[in-house]
Amino acid sequence: MSRRSTLLTNIGSLVTNDPAVDGSPLGLLTDAAVVVEGDRVAWVGAARSAPEGTDEAVDAGGRAVVPGFVDSHAHLVFAGDRTAEFNARMSGRAYTAGGIRTTVAATRAATDAELDANVARFVREALRQGTTVLECKSGYGLTVEDEARALRVAGRHTDEVTYLGAHVVAPEYADDPAGYVDLVTGPMLDACAPHARWVDVFCERGAFDGDQARAVLAAGAARGLVPRVHANQLTEGPGVQLAVELGAASADHCTHLGDADVTALASSDTVATLLPGAEFSTRAVYPDARRLLDAGATVALSTDCNPGSSFTTSVPFCIAVAVREMGMTPDEALWAATAGGAAALRRTDVGRVAVGARADLALLDAPSHVHLAYRPGVPLVSAVWRAGVREV
Ligand code: NIG
Ligand code: FE
Repeated sequence: MSRRSTLLTNIGSLVTNDPAVDGSPLGLLTDAAVVVEGDRVAWVGAARSAPEGTDEAVDAGGRAVVPGFVDSHAHLVFAGDRTAEFNARMSGRAYTAGGIRTTVAATRAATDAELDANVARFVREALRQGTTVLECKSGYGLTVEDEARALRVAGRHTDEVTYLGAHVVAPEYADDPAGYVDLVTGPMLDACAPHARWVDVFCERGAFDGDQARAVLAAGAARGLVPRVHANQLTEGPGVQLAVELGAASADHCTHLGDADVTALASSDTVATLLPGAEFSTRAVYPDARRLLDAGATVALSTDCNPGSSFTTSVPFCIAVAVREMGMTPDEALWAATAGGAAALRRTDVGRVAVGARADLALLDAPSHVHLAYRPGVPLVSAVWRAGVREV
């Protein structure tokens, strides 16, 4: 059976993230067309020289097309919400890691079907806003069974599954954190490793210190899981240095960085993943993206979608905040939310529009990607293809 082909033409502005196009990271093409064949991009170029004879043609009407967003950091397997905590925080209470335990109780009490339906709802919500790849962590189970269950549920919705048994110390181990680390690096890892690609740890005051985080990541790595780290979110701790030392795919949050942290990130392959939804929703100071970019670090932008610190699935929202509050240009923010996310997940098949790449595309109701920041809060994503299938 031949593969179905679609010509997407009359694209006013196309972000390819292919520097070969124009010598810039964004690889911008105007008056462009893309041919999708099966789940792949088969052709990219000027609309006037596009091949004929595809099964179907879609007229973009001069609007912009960007690669589907790659959200490389989300916590979607949970039940309940934390409205009351958010409400209290907006009346002045501080955010702490401790709130995670509220969601742990609700998640443990939920059925598999409820958790599955929640993840499906968030994945769909993200898709409608242009996200075609979503990473998903465990971390609200904190028992062997509940963590393994979270990963199994996540795996029904994405390939990018992360074992975060070390989110906080489980309530049962409140007086024995060392015992909990033994569990996370022993029986829990045994049950979880077959269902995950990545291992993560919340390296933070109130969660896990540098030595504990190292033990978690090293144990995961010994089982073939690649490290990523919740690092330097609330305080200037050892997370970033540890991430770089262990060759982690990403150091996430990076809100409180010393000069040595910035230098370490800039001279490594570890991606600095910034999550402005968290600072927005906790009224915290934003990470300094400009400092990281000027030093030469690779930066990704993601949602951190979770019920406690960042209950948003919207990458366009994160782009707008990053541009307004974190010193990023609209071009840098778009790159970080697509190619940057792909780099953080060590993927070369997504985050770009080039021959052979997966056909993940978002059509915007706007003449250029700059409108994602220029028109904050406006639902600009009007069509989405994921692996060649029109989903929105
Ligand atoms: O990335 N930092 C740790 N984990 C989440 C928050 C989880 C929660 O508060 O439920 C985060 O911000
Ligand atoms: Fe997170």
